[in-house]
Amino acid sequence: MNRNTRAVLVQACHNSGAYSTGCAGDKNDFVVEGLFWHAIIHKDFIAHMQYEQPASFPKPDSLSARHSARVGEHLREKIEQSGGQISFAEYMHEALYAPGLGYYSAGSAKFGVDGDFVTAPEVSAVFGKVLARQIAEVLRTIKHGSILEFGAGSGKLAVDVLTALEKMNTLPATYEIVEVSADLQERQGRRLQQSLPHLADRVHWLSELPQDFEGVIVANEVLDSLPVERFVRRESGVFQSCVTFDAARFVWTELPATGLLAATVAEIEADIGSTFPNAYTSEVSLAAPLWVGDLATSLKQGAIFLFDYGVSRREFYAPDRADGWLRCHFRHYAHSDPLIYPGIQDLTSWVDFSAIAGAAVANGLDLLGYQTQSQFFMGGGLELEMQGFNELPVASQIKLSGQIKTLTLPGEMGENFKCIVLSRGDIDTPSAFQFADRTNSL
Ligand SMILES: C[S@@+](CC[C@H](N)C(=O)[O-])C[C@H]1O[C@@H](n2cnc3c(N)ncnc32)[C@H](O)[C@@H]1O
Repeated sequence: MNRNTRAVLVQACHNSGAYSTGCAGDKNDFVVEGLFWHAIIHKDFIAHMQYEQPASFPKPDSLSARHSARVGEHLREKIEQSGGQISFAEYMHEALYAPGLGYYSAGSAKFGVDGDFVTAPEVSAVFGKVLARQIAEVLRTIKHGSILEFGAGSGKLAVDVLTALEKMNTLPATYEIVEVSADLQERQGRRLQQSLPHLADRVHWLSELPQDFEGVIVANEVLDSLPVERFVRRESGVFQSCVTFDAARFVWTELPATGLLAATVAEIEADIGSTFPNAYTSEVSLAAPLWVGDLATSLKQGAIFLFDYGVSRREFYAPDRADGWLRCHFRHYAHSDPLIYPGIQDLTSWVDFSAIAGAAVANGLDLLGYQTQSQFFMGGGLELEMQGFNELPVASQIKLSGQIKTLTLPGEMGENFKCIVLSRGDIDTPSAFQFADRTNSL
């Protein structure tokens, strides 16, 4: 199997009837490019683009609106070239990763208070510190083991994990990063150089997964950003949700589902033991099992920790989830319309963790555990990170308490976020998963 990162996306899109133009190596930068030129090219498009959203919905500034119009133009060309519609997976892929244009390929803030959403590593360094304890347990059993982080975002997790491992005297031989966005690669490099200059030579960016990797693979909120197919169950069969352009806006359309999508929906219905009711709409990730297969092929010995918001297959395709799990993030406003603001909002889908576990086992990995993020913290040594809490200034205590609440409370990231740990070789179950395990629910 081709294990190039770009190929992961290309193949996923092929399988879903879409295609990709590739991602890595595209220096974006709508911030510095000629805005005047964009404005001329796109002024009609901007003027006619119509969105319906609640009055409370944040509006993009003029720079972002112009960029979105350019992405919209790109999508419209794709739709025309494809004869009038593209699959939702292709729409999502282009909106997120089109070279120089997509949400992740271009230079917007994305993470943190100035961006659109916050991830666990951005909430608190405690996430990286607790994860480092689990990583250290695995690294101690592997001679010269390395870490490979997939989709490293701002580079915050890499800094926190390396800092914690250095204190534990368990530094990895190398810290490899596979990152599809050239813009984010640059940001990660700057951050690591500023924060840990003495460790910078251990960090490398790979354009494809390594062969015979030994150590720990980590990915936080990567699964949810892989393009998903959307489908609708009708009495006459299963339909693939597609996107077309009509009267100055992107709109949904449908084609009969074929190939892998049709087969996968049939498999899901067999798994849950019933046919979806008429008009039931949901998502299926054809890319995620392939990606897990690629990780499995790469890993010779060690463990894989995957964090994301998700549920078991039964919960994912429950009767009350008749409109699926798509989630869009724009300026900290979460909503479910992926067809507005192309290129300037994050598009995600919750994860069917049963599919991840199934793909792992099918590719020869061991499933060591599955638990909530809250359980991961409780079993993974959070109390050890709290030592010295009482000696902190009150302001720091309040700040840290707030961060830990966000990471662990059920109504925040504690329950919806899960961690699954997979392995190959003689690897003990990490201590966090000995504390609690929900594998039986998958
Ligand atoms: C939601 S962000 C999470 C970033 C970071 N892990 C965090 O927790 O803050 C998703 C990340 O995955 C990257 N990504 C998505 N698909 C990828 C792929 N196929 N290969 C490598 N990186 C990918 C994105 O560019 C981005 O860095």
